[in-house]
Amino acid sequence: MGKVFALVTGGSRGIGRAVALRFAREGYGVIVTYRNRGDLAGEVVRKAKSIGAPIAEAIQMDVSSVESVRSARERVEELVDYLNVLVNNAGVLHVGGIEETTPEDWNRVINVNLTGPFIVTKEFLPLLYRAEWASIVNLASIAGQTGNVVASAAYSASKAGVIGLTKRLAVELAERGIRVNAVAPSFVETDMVKDFIDTQEKRRRVEELHPLRTIVKPEDVAEAVLFLADPRRSRAVTGHVLQVNAGRLT
Ligand SMILES: NC(=O)c1ccc[n+]([C@@H]2O[C@H](COP(=O)([O-])OP(=O)(O)OC[C@H]3O[C@@H](n4cnc5c(N)ncnc54)[C@H](O)[C@@H]3O)[C@@H](O)[C@H]2O)c1
Repeated sequence: MGKVFALVTGGSRGIGRAVALRFAREGYGVIVTYRNRGDLAGEVVRKAKSIGAPIAEAIQMDVSSVESVRSARERVEELVDYLNVLVNNAGVLHVGGIEETTPEDWNRVINVNLTGPFIVTKEFLPLLYRAEWASIVNLASIAGQTGNVVASAAYSASKAGVIGLTKRLAVELAERGIRVNAVAPSFVETDMVKDFIDTQEKRRRVEELHPLRTIVKPEDVAEAVLFLADPRRSRAVTGHVLQVNAGRLT
């Protein structure tokens, strides 16, 4: 393969960070986008370079704003002529029952988690078209597959929507040779969910929800994202939702 480039949204921490570093280790040039933690994104860039990324850059981008995504895309076009991989990772958690969920909460969660991947994919498609090969990986969630988790209906609906988006785009973009897949993790040990495991007792309870009696790590998810993104590994896989859930099925 010639030079290959991956863009990871929300790449300053958590799963996005692990994904960016995994691609860097594989020799990809990586562009991480961040919402407001330029300092953390800068650290990811330094680390990515130190482990082999030919280029590594951080760009500010709010995935829920068309203007922000457009100006980030213009900036990306100054750095690379094409993109091989787009990872729609940025997302926000929301918990609570429907009675506490306001229409504003609902719109915020849907805007970031579902409309975000739509806007970003649409805006970056021309860069994917220009690449010799390209693929998209979306971060869904077990919450989009079952209601039996702590996340709210807004979050669950947003992630079920991501699965629908993935399946439809897999068909639509197949004629351009672009594969579109999703990863659906269960509980992953990141800042997003740290309040659920901040004592030994809480950790144990989360572990017990998973038949493998372990908590998924960002690196486990990154491995699945790389598998789905890279045509040397998954050339014939598209429209797939890969569960990384330590055996938790409901
Ligand atoms: N941690 C889990 O248990 C878990 C489980 C299943 C799915 N996921 C999904 O994985 C993805 C990554 O989650 P994480 O656990 O690393 O969480 P995290 O909170 O550590 O990281 C989320 C990232 O998204 C960014 N982000 C949020 N809103 C944004 C916006 N409007 N524009 C741009 N960036 C924005 C944040 O700044 C952050 O960098 C999310 O889509 C999340 O829903 C997480």
